[in-house]
Amino acid sequence: MSDLSFASLTPGKPVKIEKNGRSICVTRVQDEVFAIDDTCSHSDASLAEGDVSDFKIECWLHGAEFDLRTGEALTPPAVAPVKVYSVIVDGDSVTVDA
Ligand code: FES
Repeated sequence: MSDLSFASLTPGKPVKIEKNGRSICVTRVQDEVFAIDDTCSHSDASLAEGDVSDFKIECWLHGAEFDLRTGEALTPPAVAPVKVYSVIVDGDSVTVDA
């Protein structure tokens, strides 16, 4: 059972999904898809509302940047990473392992 269709994902435009009680930010970068916890590790902000550049997403609230591939916090004020989920892309079907 897929969570999203690949065709529905616009590169650089994150989408927030709910799966198994978690809020997850799904982002397409070129032909790859990444999934991280949607809630910023600094405070209660949705990362899906942030800006994406290359493999980074910037929290709209205080500007912390996270690496979409590793979840690492790259820029203060966030210091803790966000959780990363595996993503399986099979044709048009995108499934987040959450
Ligand atoms: S809530 Fe994301 S940087 Fe502060």
